[in-house]
Amino acid sequence: MERIWIKDTVEKVGQTVDLCGWVDNRRDHGKIIFIDLRDRSGICQVVFGPWSGEELYKKAQDLRNEWVVQINGLVKERPENLVNPNLITGKIEIEAKSLDILNESQTPPFDVTGDGSEINEEVRMKYRYLDLRRPRLQKNINLRHSVVKFIRNFLSEREFIEIETPILTKSTPEGARDYVVPSRLYPGNFYALPQSPQQYKQLLMVAGMERYFQIARCFRDEDTRGDRQPEFTQLDLEMSFVDREDVMLLNEELLINLVKTCAPNKKIQQIPFPRISYKEAIEKYGIDRPDLRENKNDPDLLAFCWVIDFPFFEKTDEGGWTFTHNPFSAPKSDDADKLMDKDNIESILTTQYDIVLNGFEIGGGSIRNHKPEALEKVFEIMGFEKERIHKNFGHMLEALSYGAPPHGGIAWGLDRLITLLSNEPNIREVMAFPKTGDAKDLMMDSPSELEKKQLEEIHIEIKKSNKK
Ligand code: AMO
Repeated sequence: MERIWIKDTVEKVGQTVDLCGWVDNRRDHGKIIFIDLRDRSGICQVVFGPWSGEELYKKAQDLRNEWVVQINGLVKERPENLVNPNLITGKIEIEAKSLDILNESQTPPFDVTGDGSEINEEVRMKYRYLDLRRPRLQKNINLRHSVVKFIRNFLSEREFIEIETPILTKSTPEGARDYVVPSRLYPGNFYALPQSPQQYKQLLMVAGMERYFQIARCFRDEDTRGDRQPEFTQLDLEMSFVDREDVMLLNEELLINLVKTCAPNKKIQQIPFPRISYKEAIEKYGIDRPDLRENKNDPDLLAFCWVIDFPFFEKTDEGGWTFTHNPFSAPKSDDADKLMDKDNIESILTTQYDIVLNGFEIGGGSIRNHKPEALEKVFEIMGFEKERIHKNFGHMLEALSYGAPPHGGIAWGLDRLITLLSNEPNIREVMAFPKTGDAKDLMMDSPSELEKKQLEEIHIEIKKSNKK
């Protein structure tokens, strides 16, 4: 069989073609039966009539929504008055010559042809494989693919290489709670899933990779919200021998070109992207991720801005200091001495830059401390004892002592960016298999209990409690 995509039928008028897909809809008009046949590329109308012969016609009568079929038929131009401008194949229809039913389907628990926003989300999640059939989600997943493809090409052309970093790793101090994995071989020891590849990407700079990127999966055990998932994807990148300006300009160019190519209907409000200091953002907008859109009713307006000059440290509830963004960041060069002298700590500014889009933080990064003394000072200011610093970060301090190049980078929240490009209300709509608001996968029924034997193997005993 030489099966063709439905979108390509328009090029095949007068030819007999093989199509495969799902019955989107069947309309029985007595002597004539229409079905809308759907594959990933689109929908076309297939017609069964007296010319089909009795057997084929009867078979077509049995068809129900979501049955999987293979159809052989003649591509015919529709008369002018029957053209459907809403379909990419609206100028043609297929006169069926044969029909094979490849699989039947139960009646789906909900309509998969509509927008789906009226359907209870828990039901959508339980049957996500059906939910993903709807055109809106197909479009989002396709957009996601084209964005990732664009990023890979753009960065590869600029000498970046994509490198995978481990998923079974060790806690990184990103600020959220870790997901942990018990070790079978080392009772009482745990891996942590990465909150981001931060330390590995810096170690890759020490390793002389110079320009790294990764479409990286990150895990954070924090409360789920519209723009937060326990498991999400970053475009993560890191570069050697750069300053803040280099990283910001590269990312700005990438974002502008990505929008032009992948979301050409969108208009970027201001290029170059405006830059606001943290202080100005708070004073003027009361928030460090201001929504700068001049017209908030315009769904296709993108107002990017950079927020820079964040304070490095903030007071903890206990009266000590903690980092505002990333302990590995370098201070701005004017404040480097203050860090080394632990002087005037509240006034130290970091090289951190956040990229904000329509009021959402879609990314952030910084130039890093590439000298071990500077990184050690950050931990000292946070009140870490020497012993703890060396236990937790000894590997980083040691690595930096072997000729680490100056380096810096950024990570984007890819799910957030795609949500905004597709005008969706939350990031679940642009992820193939997201978790619910209470961090469950209703389709797989996860998290779930383990067999007693599995627990024994990983040396875990469950304390039964009445609390859920
Ligand atoms: P940060 O923690 O700011 O930086 O993360 C970068 C971007 O990731 C997105 N993001 C999330 N998206 C969905 N769900 C979540 N739970 C979630 N948490 C964060 C945000 C955020 O801007 N290693 C540093 C980057 C660096 O310095 O290079 C980091 O991870 O859009």
